[in-house]
Amino acid sequence: MSEWFESWFGEEYVALYPHRNEAEAERAVALIARTLGTRRVLLVLDLACGSGRHARYLGQRWWTSGVDLSETLLGIAHRNGIPARLVRADIRELPYRESCFDLVVNLFTSFGYFETDAEHERVIQDIRRVMTAGGTFVLDFFNARQVEEKLVPYDERSIAGLSVEQRRKITDDGRFVVKHISIREDGRQFVERVRLFSQRDLVSMLDRAGFRVETSYGDYDGGPLTETSPRVILFASRN
Ligand SMILES: C[S@@+](CC[C@H](N)C(=O)[O-])C[C@H]1O[C@@H](n2cnc3c(N)ncnc32)[C@H](O)[C@@H]1O
Repeated sequence: MSEWFESWFGEEYVALYPHRNEAEAERAVALIARTLGTRRVLLVLDLACGSGRHARYLGQRWWTSGVDLSETLLGIAHRNGIPARLVRADIRELPYRESCFDLVVNLFTSFGYFETDAEHERVIQDIRRVMTAGGTFVLDFFNARQVEEKLVPYDERSIAGLSVEQRRKITDDGRFVVKHISIREDGRQFVERVRLFSQRDLVSMLDRAGFRVETSYGDYDGGPLTETSPRVILFASRN
């Protein structure tokens, strides 16, 4: 049986969410560059790079590779001439040798998609494997607490001439936020399911895998991480 993220990040995702914010991606990369300062970076990996929103700006500064599972999104990145070496793979099986990358980024909640925590832990461990000693891993995740507090259970929107219904809920065990997307006209249905990792969960996972969180932010302008900030952005150094 295929997993939700294999079918969702295709043509429909692009059609229904065409307004992914380029300016926001540029701000995120500027924040990363500012935070790293004079730290030496030769090779960067954008893990789950999608259509290359961030790789566009990362590639202007550093040699950049991008990995993603979605053929559709990688196709868009290719057509847009994103300055990065793009590879199609599952982040659970990274096709890279040990100690290649000085900087690995995982941006815009491109994590937390798997059923078990063990799978998430393995991904973090594998990220460490492909990084150089002293390298930096940037994990940019939603603020789970805010997601729970601001959850809109139902909305209906007209997008690209289609009526799109979105139903959101927290699973009974409190572990996931699930969004069911249905297109009224033709009955197509998709699911998006993300694990509600708290800041503390993420920090301990990183810690267990051999990273040390050195800096954190709560938004792409470098605002402080608080209970109400929209993002949890962690800069972790590989021990
Ligand atoms: C929310 S999108 C964000 C993409 C990109 N980081 C951005 O900000 O535009 C999540 C991305 O994760 C990718 N993805 C989901 N599961 C994956 C997996 N198991 N392996 C590789 N990529 C995956 C999707 O294809 C999609 O491009």
